[in-house]
Amino acid sequence: MTNNAAFLLAKRLGNFYAVGMKGIILAGGAGSRLYPLTLVASKQLQPVYDKPMVYYPLTTLIEGGIRELCLISTPQDLPRFQQLLGDGRRFGVSIEYRVQEKPAGIAQAFLIAESFIGQDNVTLILGDNIFYGGDSFYRAFADFKGGETIYGYHVNDPERYGVVEFDVQGKAVSIEEKPKQPKSNYAVPGLYICDNSVVEIAKNLQPSARGELEITAVNVEYLKRGQLRVQRLTRGFAWLDAGTSSSLHEASAYVQTIEKRAGIKIGCPEEAAFRQGFVSLEQLEKIVGAMPNCEYRTYLEHEVVAEAKRLNQ
Ligand code: G1P
Repeated sequence: MTNNAAFLLAKRLGNFYAVGMKGIILAGGAGSRLYPLTLVASKQLQPVYDKPMVYYPLTTLIEGGIRELCLISTPQDLPRFQQLLGDGRRFGVSIEYRVQEKPAGIAQAFLIAESFIGQDNVTLILGDNIFYGGDSFYRAFADFKGGETIYGYHVNDPERYGVVEFDVQGKAVSIEEKPKQPKSNYAVPGLYICDNSVVEIAKNLQPSARGELEITAVNVEYLKRGQLRVQRLTRGFAWLDAGTSSSLHEASAYVQTIEKRAGIKIGCPEEAAFRQGFVSLEQLEKIVGAMPNCEYRTYLEHEVVAEAKRLNQ
């Protein structure tokens, strides 16, 4: 579909499409911190309460209007993701797959996916990052103007992450990867919205002391160029990372609590695709009809399909 046709379609449906924005989900890594869970299935395939972890970042990209996606994983895990997500049609998106032969850093994703990115802008999301609440990303991909946009989220253990320091005016002044003495409590979540020059920036990176092409080095380069925008995520916004057994468990408990209380689902890509106008009601009914009897299907039938029909009457 050409960008223009897609835009008209999106308009007709009253939703939006992030024109000229590609999406990458990076689902690589050995998952060693989750051993032995990760002996036979990668980290991003582990359950976060009632669905595989990768459903959450996938949903974030769909909710932001991105329709052309690429998933990167290890040679042994990639077939599993293909089995799980297919060509993306049931989520109203296209998904290409690329292999990361060896874990050589997050920024390597831009090199692996160079032909997929082409001349477009690109949003990279890490497959173990879960976002919920607020509408911070809602138009972020569609309204993106250039340079790079990243986020800052207040945490109590910043040394585990990329850390951004702000001056008194709230302007980002430094970013460091896993500093022993963090200059602030603001961690940089695994969501990076970049213009096309990120490919050239990634090509010129030198591996860090731990031998990786660091995403933080990309962020620092945009900062040096005066093209970095860091937006602080507000209180009430949840950013969960599910990379250790305890954070995985906490993420599951969080999702369960909200879902039970509100009777909604977090990280349901079929629902997001429908609400975004990526799949029609008829298509959604077929997709749901092909699911086995389970709670996930019942939710989509009752809370999404039946509700849409009621509102359409
Ligand atoms: C990576 C990045 C780090 C970022 C984090 C977000 O760390 O290197 O800058 O804050 O993801 O989840 P990792 O989780 O791979 O150690």
